Amino acid sequence: MNTGKVDVLLGLQWGDEGKGKVVDVLTPHYDVIARFQGGPNAGHTLEFEGQKYVLRSIPSGIFQGGKVNIIGNGVVLAPDLFMDEAKDLEKSGHPLKERLHISKKAHLIMPTHRILDRAIEAAKGKNKVGTTGKGIGPTYTDKVSRNGLRVGDILDHFDEKYAAHKERHMKMLKALGWTDFDGFDEVEKKWMEGIAYMKDFHFVDSEHEINRTLRAGKNILCEGAQGTMLDVDFGSYPFVTSSNTICAGACIGLGIGPNKIGNVYGIMKAYCTRVGAGPFPTELFDETGKTIRDLGHEYGAVTGRERRCGWVDLVQLKYSVMVNGVTQLILMKSDVLDGFDTVKACVAYKLKDGSETTELPYEIDDVTPVYKEFKGWKTDMTKMTRESQFPQAFKDYIKFIEDFLETPISIVSVGPDREATIER
Ligand code: GDP
Ligand code: IMO
Ligand code: MG
Repeated sequence: MNTGKVDVLLGLQWGDEGKGKVVDVLTPHYDVIARFQGGPNAGHTLEFEGQKYVLRSIPSGIFQGGKVNIIGNGVVLAPDLFMDEAKDLEKSGHPLKERLHISKKAHLIMPTHRILDRAIEAAKGKNKVGTTGKGIGPTYTDKVSRNGLRVGDILDHFDEKYAAHKERHMKMLKALGWTDFDGFDEVEKKWMEGIAYMKDFHFVDSEHEINRTLRAGKNILCEGAQGTMLDVDFGSYPFVTSSNTICAGACIGLGIGPNKIGNVYGIMKAYCTRVGAGPFPTELFDETGKTIRDLGHEYGAVTGRERRCGWVDLVQLKYSVMVNGVTQLILMKSDVLDGFDTVKACVAYKLKDGSETTELPYEIDDVTPVYKEFKGWKTDMTKMTRESQFPQAFKDYIKFIEDFLETPISIVSVGPDREATIER
């Protein structure tokens, strides 16, 4: 049978690799774009025709006309934030009611989940994760402990179900000693408006829709959120998010058989960033780190927080390539390093016992990165359109990365705009 193909696009570092931009660029090759995990903790930025958009829960394929975009069962959705995001898009001339389908099995982030997120973080004190505060952890916790409220519940005795879940959450908050409910009533009111607003969208059995699409010979692109090092199993636990961000997450979060997966696009920055707490071996605390932050505008799209910056970590990336089965790398933001005299990449970790490894160990908070230094290319690459224009020093640098990671770099992105993309 001639079935369509499923490709997966995901972040290989700690998020914010530039996934949104690449999904938008690749969308013309697909019929359906689907988000499979995460929620409004994500902030995916797209720029084209002089406009900038930040998407949180809506897939980044929404701007290329005529495509169906699906919010899969693996996603957690906040109705109030979804309503804001969708209304903004409609206002800017991007109608989505017909094109955006929402899985009935996606879980709802309740207002009390967001308070629980804050309360649990506060209880962790100095060990806090530094979450986005969007209620992600508590919502996935309810899902796994079989207490969740799903999109499909909106259609049946919703008020009763909501009240029961809220009561349970309030008891948990009381046990945590939480007393700050300022503004809760307004938030809850808007959340309910969000529920009413959502009813105008197609609630679907997305696993059936996805597999039907494939049987019809059409192609699907799965859009990951966060990054591999934030995966709840393989990331820098416990400083991670609460979903499986890796390729297998696409199978679970959409209902796709693993044998249907074709290309796995691994998105990586030419350096590395992280928001929130947790280990980051190549983090730079000096002027270079600050320069990268300033030139790369490394401030969170969701929370506005400063992103921690450091050199690219090939040990970490090798691990990410492995657990995802990456078939193609997409290199982002090398333009940020255009003016550097030298550029470094971590090629091994020195462990406490003095030995060196290129296999990401269980603990990464006490490893010392071993760097290889490259000659900077010292060329403004932002206007380049073809690989043949690449300076030799840049060619040497990307060849080294490809060899180390045993994976080809198929696209180089040299600016935030859709146009600043070089396919090799
Ligand atoms: P995502 O969460 O993976 O979609 O990434 P974010 O949108 O949070 O962060 C990536 C940021 O880098 C956004 O502000 C993008 O507009 C910007 N960006 C994407 N690709 C490039 C690039 O190649 N060069 C530069 N300078 N900026 C880029
Ligand atoms: P995109 O999709 C970067 C981080 C938070 C925190 C940890 C847990 O834009 O790449 P959570 O709110 O998920 O419980 O927070 O994960 N985090 C992200 N960091 N980009 C993201 O998404 C992130 N989503 C969550 O900062 O450290
Ligand atoms: Mg982001």
